[in-house]
Amino acid sequence: MAAVRLEKYLADAGCGSRSQIKALLKQGRVSVDGNVEKDGSRREDYAQHEVRLDGSVVSYEKYVYYLLNKPQGVVSATKDALSDTVIGLLAGVNTKGLFPVGRLDKDTEGLLLITNDGELAHNLLSPKKHVAKKYYVNLDKALSEENRIKIEEGIDIGDEKPCLPAKIERVENAKKPGDLSCMITITEGRYHQVKRMFEACGLTVTYLKRISMGNLTLPETLHPGEFLKIDREEIL
Ligand code: URA
Repeated sequence: MAAVRLEKYLADAGCGSRSQIKALLKQGRVSVDGNVEKDGSRREDYAQHEVRLDGSVVSYEKYVYYLLNKPQGVVSATKDALSDTVIGLLAGVNTKGLFPVGRLDKDTEGLLLITNDGELAHNLLSPKKHVAKKYYVNLDKALSEENRIKIEEGIDIGDEKPCLPAKIERVENAKKPGDLSCMITITEGRYHQVKRMFEACGLTVTYLKRISMGNLTLPETLHPGEFLKIDREEIL
């Protein structure tokens, strides 16, 4: 890492805004190699030193990864003129450079990875990689055996090519009594894909939640709107 101003190092490590960091420095809450440092303009390669804030080591991470349980009503974008975004849900996080890996519809819940690692995002989203995505689905009507087979064999949803074969699993413990639920695993990421696959069978998806993507599974204890910081090794 090149030499940078201490203020920038602390800001990039998510210690606060520039003005908050100036205040922290002034209050003597930052130390470098055991000595209180009040001058935020000093340039060093701080990755080679021990920087502490209020006694805790400040580590600089080039790439960060957050697993969010996206609630309904927020958009999978970094900015939106009208709606709240998934990035806005990361309270207390330095969100500079962060973006969601792919999109879930505004009314879809569930697992969404947020990162600043473009290469990892590309590997997860590339059509060539066929990363599996599993969704819990509620439907307005029962899925017939004939339609299940159509989906499993690769259903035509009006695109240039039919969808790749998908996997359907029945679920016993529906969310509400009377819910017509199933799990579907797809290996592509077409626009509104799951909704359109069921629509092509004459069914409407009334609730959609992503349960897993590649190796990542949404923890049952993570409620909508909550997020976890995770390690790169957990993802691919
Ligand atoms: N398929 C959909 O139709 N919507 C989503 O949000 C994700 C997959």
